[in-house]
Amino acid sequence: MLDVTLTEGIFKKSEATGLTFLLDLDIDRLIAPCYIAAGLKPKKPRYGGWESMEIAGHSLGHYLSAASIMYKTTKHPVLKERIDYAIMELSDLQAQSEDGYVSGFKRDCFDEVFTGEFRVAPFSLGGSWVPWYSIHKIYQGLIDVYHFTGLMLAKKVVYRLANWAERGLKKLSDASFQRMLICEFGGMNEVFADMYLLTNEVRFLELAERFQHQIILEPLSKGIDDLAGKHANTQIPKLIGTAKLYQITKKERYKKSVMFFYREVMDHRSYVIGGNSIGEHFGPSGTEPLGILTTETCNTYNMMKLSAMIFEWDQQSQYYDDYERALYNHILASQDPISGGKTYFVATEPGHFKVYCDKEDSFWCCTGTGMENPARYWTDIFKQIDDTLYVNLFISARVTLEEAAIQFQQTTAFPFDETVRLSVSSGNGIKLTVKVRQPAWISEPMTVAVNNQVVSSSIEAGYITIKRTWYEGDELTWRLPQSLHIYHNKDAKEKVAFMYGPLVLAAALGKEQYPETDIVGDHQIYNHHPLIHVPPLITDEPLIDILTCMDEETLTFRSLPVVGETGECYTFKPFFMIHHERYALYVDVLSEEAARTYTREAEELKQLLLLKTVDYVTPGEQQPETDHHLVEVHSRMGYVPSVDRHWRDAYDHGYFSYRLKTAATPLLLRVTYFGGDDNVYINDVMYPRLFDILVDGISIQTVHLQSEAPGELVERDYVLPEQLTKGKQHLEVTFQSRKQTVAGGIYGVRLLK
Ligand code: AHR
Ligand code: ZN
Repeated sequence: MLDVTLTEGIFKKSEATGLTFLLDLDIDRLIAPCYIAAGLKPKKPRYGGWESMEIAGHSLGHYLSAASIMYKTTKHPVLKERIDYAIMELSDLQAQSEDGYVSGFKRDCFDEVFTGEFRVAPFSLGGSWVPWYSIHKIYQGLIDVYHFTGLMLAKKVVYRLANWAERGLKKLSDASFQRMLICEFGGMNEVFADMYLLTNEVRFLELAERFQHQIILEPLSKGIDDLAGKHANTQIPKLIGTAKLYQITKKERYKKSVMFFYREVMDHRSYVIGGNSIGEHFGPSGTEPLGILTTETCNTYNMMKLSAMIFEWDQQSQYYDDYERALYNHILASQDPISGGKTYFVATEPGHFKVYCDKEDSFWCCTGTGMENPARYWTDIFKQIDDTLYVNLFISARVTLEEAAIQFQQTTAFPFDETVRLSVSSGNGIKLTVKVRQPAWISEPMTVAVNNQVVSSSIEAGYITIKRTWYEGDELTWRLPQSLHIYHNKDAKEKVAFMYGPLVLAAALGKEQYPETDIVGDHQIYNHHPLIHVPPLITDEPLIDILTCMDEETLTFRSLPVVGETGECYTFKPFFMIHHERYALYVDVLSEEAARTYTREAEELKQLLLLKTVDYVTPGEQQPETDHHLVEVHSRMGYVPSVDRHWRDAYDHGYFSYRLKTAATPLLLRVTYFGGDDNVYINDVMYPRLFDILVDGISIQTVHLQSEAPGELVERDYVLPEQLTKGKQHLEVTFQSRKQTVAGGIYGVRLLK
């Protein structure tokens, strides 16, 4: 493993902020759920947010990964103390169980699974919220501790935990195993592949392969894109595990799945900042819908892992073009430089703002991966493959090579300065090939000088190659010429993002109607916060002439005075520098002619809806349903590509319910249906879609769906009697079927004031 230390610059600063965030957390509180799960009294109270829910313990796993990866580069002694203590604690807790089980939640769900007869839904297994997903973080944390710090006890704990799973899962038939995989399971295929690499025990490799989710991987291996409507962060780790399994087994179909998936997501489903997903789901290929709940940060963390893994077998610069775009514009942008808080979704809705986790009551999935992000800045700057050192990212850092007594120092103030130096800080007479990545965004061909002499070098796979024997003081220098370039949204060409080199420049829009704080425990708080109007740029000038750089040191740009109705200018800054204010990643740019027919009608309707919405759930979507305490019996969910929406229904006395926030005014319940829904066959019996809507157990409406508007979504409003809502904080809204009837499908449930 390369030894890399960041020496200065924006990543070094962000790393320090990430370190403080880790040091501020208390291991006893992170480990408290593991005590409770083992039936013991914790030393300190558990944290709030997701650490007080069934998914608990995932943050401890992420913490272990983050701390050990950060320790490897910073050697910060307190991190090591924390890691040692946490592993000791986990080992003691593990010793309380007969078979090695240890995690942040009770084992009943797994015990149910191991019987072979178990309940399963996409986000619930054995009655618990994504248990494999959560425990996967503990496995990964233990493996990372062993890998990055060499702590033997971590290996022992993970070995026992792996034995526990292997023994339990042995009892499942292949069919039951695949059924279990319906529920999100993180990267369990990857950790068992790692267990094989750690122990050489084939049973772990076999188990890793059993965790291959065929229904997802098979179409991908045949080049079939069936991703629309799928929960994004459920799928990406499956492909990371598949990439690892390809490296071990060399099975071509694994490689095919990975390569196809990677390009489908990167090229056809990503936003300008390199992230993906809307409402946590993939949309149809080639779409880029703007919204508030877009680009979940975990997904980007995972896609970057995939870029790096693919690079191990296909050394082309494009993977680090993707990685770099995501690194600067999503990952670096996702940590609050002041509080160290992390984003969950990054809104692409023009005029929205970043919402960060707090240190007490969040512990979202993205808090976990967010802890790891700044710890990982060092991992991919350089890569060593055999006797070649790849320089992939232009970040000031020192690198010591494996098995070669040579150290390089890379020095640069990029992206604020275009010059990069790579010099030998120690080592003499070492033969080595250095390959420097030429980024795709470069505005003129790059040249490299060796000790101030420009060398003529061809570009191969996007890299400039310098092969020589190196001596202390030798220095490579190159420039990275950046320029403005334009990105068009995939759905609407007039939605434009401005880029400079790898950076997305966003319009900085200030604090109009800004909330008191954007550091919150509950990530849903600002989903219905008022938007502001972001006027279009109206000009016939070429797009490239719209922005002028005002300050090269901060890369601040100003637009022509063409902002919509007001004729003002926008200020654009690198997106990673925009915090605690509103922003627009995409701005509408209209020609004078197009502006004549421009209306704000759609925007005003959206704003009005946001202002009137008290709460909203999208049935069939994981996080909104979990956040609204879904309860379901005899219920199904699905996705309709033509309208790009999910649904949920229930049948045979089945039902499903959500807990919605309420307000002290008369309320309307707005339910969205599919206008083509009519009678449906279940087990060869025709069921009418006849059902009741109940609010806090009282029926407010009987509904019979009979294909009233084929092909489109329809909305129906129901007035809620005041006595039902008065003085309440929450309402329970239930969709109840009868004997041999179906309730739903329901596509949206909204409470309006
Ligand atoms: O379900 C666990 C995690 O929480 C998912 O991967 C993420 O998308 C989410 O909301
Ligand atoms: Zn997340």
